[in-house]
Amino acid sequence: MHETTRKPAFPEDFQWGVATSAFQLEGSSNADWSTWDPVLSDIPEITNHYAVFREDLKLLKDLGVNSYRFSIEWSRIQPRPDTWDDEAIAHYQEIIDILRSYNIEPMVTLHHFTHPKWFLERSPWHKTASIEKFLRYTEKMVATLRNVRYWITFNEPYVILIGGYLDGCTPPGLRDVPRSLVALKNIFTCHGKAYDIIHRYVPDAQVSIAHNMSVFAPWKKWNPLDRLLKKSANFFYNHSIINAFQTGVFVIKFPFSRAVEIEVPIKNKLDFFGVNYYTRIHLRFNPLKKMGVELRHLDIEGHGLTNIGWEVHPRGLAKVLRYASRLDLPLFITENGIATHDTEMKVRYMKQHVDVIERCLKDGLDVRGYFYWTLIDNYEWLQGLDSRFGLYKVDFKTLKRSPTSAATYYAYLIQSRSRM
Ligand code: GAL
Repeated sequence: MHETTRKPAFPEDFQWGVATSAFQLEGSSNADWSTWDPVLSDIPEITNHYAVFREDLKLLKDLGVNSYRFSIEWSRIQPRPDTWDDEAIAHYQEIIDILRSYNIEPMVTLHHFTHPKWFLERSPWHKTASIEKFLRYTEKMVATLRNVRYWITFNEPYVILIGGYLDGCTPPGLRDVPRSLVALKNIFTCHGKAYDIIHRYVPDAQVSIAHNMSVFAPWKKWNPLDRLLKKSANFFYNHSIINAFQTGVFVIKFPFSRAVEIEVPIKNKLDFFGVNYYTRIHLRFNPLKKMGVELRHLDIEGHGLTNIGWEVHPRGLAKVLRYASRLDLPLFITENGIATHDTEMKVRYMKQHVDVIERCLKDGLDVRGYFYWTLIDNYEWLQGLDSRFGLYKVDFKTLKRSPTSAATYYAYLIQSRSRM
């Protein structure tokens, strides 16, 4: 797929990146997820990235990215409540140092879904003690790691809450609305306080969360109940969080229930906003399903469905970026990618989404960076090893990495779209 000669809209300092998370690449026997998913007992080190990270970081250099978002595996840093693992800390510092030597800006995520086992056993998010535990870990990281300016406190806090407290498909595996609301308050309290801690140590820090924004649509446009669900989901997912960062209050309102207001100390505690965007979701009211909602991905525009059944809907990215622009802050697409074995489809997906960003830039949106999810094939939380989001393919028998044409294309895209 060739680019026509055109004047690129991307500013010179646009951050072209790739995003990963530690656990999905390297596992960790001390993390809650390692025993949560039985698949992991056969592949405890997943891609063996923890051992071969230097080689993997070279792949970033080959791609020509100038930014890299990765996470710290908390369960490696603090395997027991009273133990800090200095070697693990040195390991993540080396990643940062290597990135700096390649002129690649690190963006560090402190929490990307996994916890030390002891944390979930003693003080999961619905307990007040979770706040102090997370902040101790945060302070340790911020005080110790050098040369990091971009920090993400939590990856997708809503997913932690929905998976762990409403759907029960992720640790701690609860289905408990009252506890989910306490957990929401505690997690966002952690964000607000972590924001201050990070700024205390790193005065020019740029701090955010990475929030997954989605486009919602009614399954049947003519059905008022489907339309009501769409409206509620859109408000909850895309707007309530933005409002909370502006006002310090979460307003949670589901159909046929009273609104709940939760105060959280996060007003203006953001320097940019990280948007993870993948897909559009159709919703149907179905009283036989959990919470009366049935979700579906429909291939309406003919772009296809991904390996894990998600609709490809590039236009939706512009929509969610416009929602996020209400914050009046720089926007980063902290994740965007596709699970597929079909690398031509991967190339198309990337091009279509980058085209949308380019149009958004021309329309005046303040988009500062794009992070493709992800560098190499990895472990995908609920789907195991076959989802294939990587720019580099991993043979899970030999653990050999080989570039897909999407890697070559991304390198080309970065070159051709950047204003040099
Ligand atoms: C995001 C998540 C990533 C990755 C991706 C693809 O929600 O942050 O860890 O799994 O989805 O499904």
